[in-house]
Amino acid sequence: MPASSHNRSYWNSTASSASFPSLAGDLDVDIAIIGGGIVGITTARLLKDRGLTVAVIEARRVGRQVTGKSTAKITSQHKIIYQTLEQKFGEDRARLYGEAQETALRQISTLAATHGIDCDIETKPAYTYTLDESYVSQLETEVAIAQRLGLPASLTRETDLPFDVRAAMRFDHQAQFHPTKYVAGLAGTIPGDGCHVFENSRALDWEPTRVVTEKGTIKARHVVMATHLPLGQVGGYYAQAYPYAEPVIAARVSRAQEGMYISAEQPSHSIRTHVRENGEIYAIVAGSGFKPGHTDEERRYFADIEDWLKANFEAGPVEYRWVNEDYTPMDSAPFIGWSSSKRDGYLVATGFKAWGITNGTAAAMILADLATGQENRWLELFDASRVKPLAGAGEFLKENAGVAAHLVTGYLSRKPKSFDELAPGEAAIMKIDGETVAAFRDEQGQVHAVSAVCSHMGCIVGWNETDRTWDCPCHGSRFELSGEVIHGPATKPLGAHITG
Ligand code: FES
Repeated sequence: MPASSHNRSYWNSTASSASFPSLAGDLDVDIAIIGGGIVGITTARLLKDRGLTVAVIEARRVGRQVTGKSTAKITSQHKIIYQTLEQKFGEDRARLYGEAQETALRQISTLAATHGIDCDIETKPAYTYTLDESYVSQLETEVAIAQRLGLPASLTRETDLPFDVRAAMRFDHQAQFHPTKYVAGLAGTIPGDGCHVFENSRALDWEPTRVVTEKGTIKARHVVMATHLPLGQVGGYYAQAYPYAEPVIAARVSRAQEGMYISAEQPSHSIRTHVRENGEIYAIVAGSGFKPGHTDEERRYFADIEDWLKANFEAGPVEYRWVNEDYTPMDSAPFIGWSSSKRDGYLVATGFKAWGITNGTAAAMILADLATGQENRWLELFDASRVKPLAGAGEFLKENAGVAAHLVTGYLSRKPKSFDELAPGEAAIMKIDGETVAAFRDEQGQVHAVSAVCSHMGCIVGWNETDRTWDCPCHGSRFELSGEVIHGPATKPLGAHITG
């Protein structure tokens, strides 16, 4: 893999670099929001529209963490989900899920149009297709349920994919966009009239009415945690949603796809295209999920999508490759709302199961209602303080058992035992003087070594070869080679180790 294509999200590489100041000094606002992705920025915009003052603090750059690594499909079609939701929650709540996604889709278009955000929104149909006869009846069932729930679903065998499909579920009037341009553009409309957006401002400490950063404290009536997974141990969500990573690549292709596609079966193949200002067309392809830090699985699934792209599309070399991460909630419905049933905790949103663009926007709409004392009927499904566990607990326990087994070991098949054994470009977890160390030797020969013990709850991190980061399989925290936190739930860096 060429080192130049490491850790390059196509979206982050093709968005302008507008930036925001970091917080310096203390502030009083109505609502403080931790996290500058699609949830945090949309919540801030909706609250500003209601006359509230807000301050968003983003630990790194706005829109460039999870949102800027997605495939950016704006759709209520989330593979095969409605039959699962109907089975677990009943028809009415499954309908609420679909309604929330469709409303979010329209909300994104409205915000982009109202604020003149140039984010390449295009209306496209969304398809879940299958090449496997055994999935056809599942797709037929899903279409029938989706139609009953009022969604724009139909069954077809017509697609503009370069191969024949056994069946495809089509949703009309869906959309796709450029996620980093959208979130950064929306963030640009927030500062002023007592509202703020801060970058490079990490939350170091928090209470339900206060957030502390290195150079300033924000006091507020409520704090929103829009941080992928709530920070630290807030709400115990780390034990109710498991993380997984997804390989994503982008390469030039000769024509734009008419639709956005994802396969029903595994290994998963998702494709959409994007046309740049200069007319170049890129395919963005995502593959099967794997546990963060499992390097061997990561290699396998990247190889799978590269082979699939090459075999089926006239594509140039892969120019961008990155790993995206999300959380699967134990009962399939995201957690959105108050972190405590007493409504005295934090406002939170997590567990979007890879469908974070519409779920994240719907979350922002719910959070804006709750922050202003209004009811929101979608909470009947999403309520973050709902009693758990519901159906799905068995699978969840299996996942967590896998996590527990890896509390004390690493994930690489080759296991160098000292810095000297590390080849350039190689990483390993090793024991040195009783300490478990995460070490990487770069192409210049320098070894970057930090403690391998995750600062959240003590799991051993694993190597993300594509992004060159240390990722925690337990609850999904990610760390730079230097140990700096990319995203939580951890908020403290990995411990130092002497660099070799
Ligand atoms: Fe929880 Fe690492 S993210 S232990």
